[in-house]
Amino acid sequence: MKEALECHPQALGAVPAREPRTRPAAQGCHPSRTEEGALTRRITVFGTGYLGTAHAACLAEMGFEVLGVDIDAARIAALAAGELPFFEPGLQPLLRKGLRSGRLSFTISYSDAAAFARLHFICVGTPQQDGSYEADLSHAARCVNTLAPLLRAPCLVVGKSTVPVGTARIFAERLAQISPAGQDCELAWNPEFLREGHAVQDTMRPGRIIAGVRSARAEAMLREVYASQIAAGTPFLVTDLATAELVKVAANAFLATKISFINAMAEVCEAAGADVMALSGALGHDARIGGAWLRPGLGFGGGCLPKDIRAFMARADELGAGQALSFLREVDAINMRRRARTVDLARELAGGSLRGKLAGVLGVAFKPGSDDIRDSPALDVAATLHGLGALVSVYDPVALEAARRACPELNYAGSATEAVRDADVTLLLTEWQEFCDADPEELGKVTARRAIVDGRGALDPARWRAASWTYRTL
Ligand code: UGA
Repeated sequence: MKEALECHPQALGAVPAREPRTRPAAQGCHPSRTEEGALTRRITVFGTGYLGTAHAACLAEMGFEVLGVDIDAARIAALAAGELPFFEPGLQPLLRKGLRSGRLSFTISYSDAAAFARLHFICVGTPQQDGSYEADLSHAARCVNTLAPLLRAPCLVVGKSTVPVGTARIFAERLAQISPAGQDCELAWNPEFLREGHAVQDTMRPGRIIAGVRSARAEAMLREVYASQIAAGTPFLVTDLATAELVKVAANAFLATKISFINAMAEVCEAAGADVMALSGALGHDARIGGAWLRPGLGFGGGCLPKDIRAFMARADELGAGQALSFLREVDAINMRRRARTVDLARELAGGSLRGKLAGVLGVAFKPGSDDIRDSPALDVAATLHGLGALVSVYDPVALEAARRACPELNYAGSATEAVRDADVTLLLTEWQEFCDADPEELGKVTARRAIVDGRGALDPARWRAASWTYRTL
């Protein structure tokens, strides 16, 4: 892990020569009144993905002056023009409102950003490394290494990205070493728990705020930032840096485990002739277990859960605690078996072979409410069907463009009806409401055969069977 952090700022050369800020910083007023309040009135947010853009737009909505920063000039230009480069319900209006108010602006200039504020949030991505379970920390390291030499006044840098435990300590040392402000350039860790598709709501009203800090000053600054959430009753938990990092990965590991647990039960139910939906419902009535994240189906995907449990295992191995997380290997394996089982069911319904068969796929996003196809179980299944010789026709309400770029070999349809036209087998792989509401009689009129795999257990089997469909679910 350490090596990943040791990229020297000069070697990274990330700051372009011409760095116009796309809008001048506004001189708005802000509710904060304490000494820390003066320091938190202006905030920068590095990284403008789902996390960073939601954080920046919500902070502006809360009354702060915010400068969003990214090394991707095209993305910054789009955001500055009020265009969201991805699908996230409710975020575009907030972005535009922030821009109109003058409280939200964007830049590619690290030096403008360093001069703009005393409080800097790091929200860059930490994807899985190619060919390894480890997290790729190069974006975060580049951000710290490029920003630090520009920080001349006392300031607080706050990490929100999901990182392996121990990263924050190394970043803190690096900041103090290479920033002109020295020890006055402090680091805190404040992990983010937002879900894609609910980013605005989860940012404005988080379930809890974790403040991993090393000083009372850092805690006070974070309390200023989150004053409205704290006033609304959100628990504000103060920890050390390592615990803060761990809260995030442990939460994602637990959610992944819950999903794989119910999917393991689905395997047993299938063998025993039991009903996993009824089982899941019954388990959920136990308040100690809870019904959330206990929906059996095609399993978890996306840019977070899969890579986070793998990076967690890799880090635990480095720490000599690998055995403690060996169960996550099984969680991952159960999850991947769901995809294989879905393909098996499609093959069965297609009469034993997929070669030359037409498969109509409904949904490719990793979950409804998102256009994210990173590690999408749905897209993985669609690509596997294609690999097995099927002609695959795909429809998704928002993720088609992203899927087309990632898997150009599939056919992309303009509607659900078009996707299933002449299909020998239909698969529901992302439970968008429009698919759940679809009329099985109408869809059945255009398919070659009325056979459906419900990969998400989202359809009403009685309704589909009543319309003469052969209905199979995981
Ligand atoms: C997840 C966490 O829920 C967030 O708290 C966290 O902040 C985020 O990762 C992150 O690390 O940034 P997200 O990736 O948006 O959020 O997705 P989830 O809503 O958690 O869903 C993950 C996957 O699990 C999806 O593919 C979904 O279809 C699947 N899932 C979810 C199930 O298969 N069964 C369930 O019961 C619930």
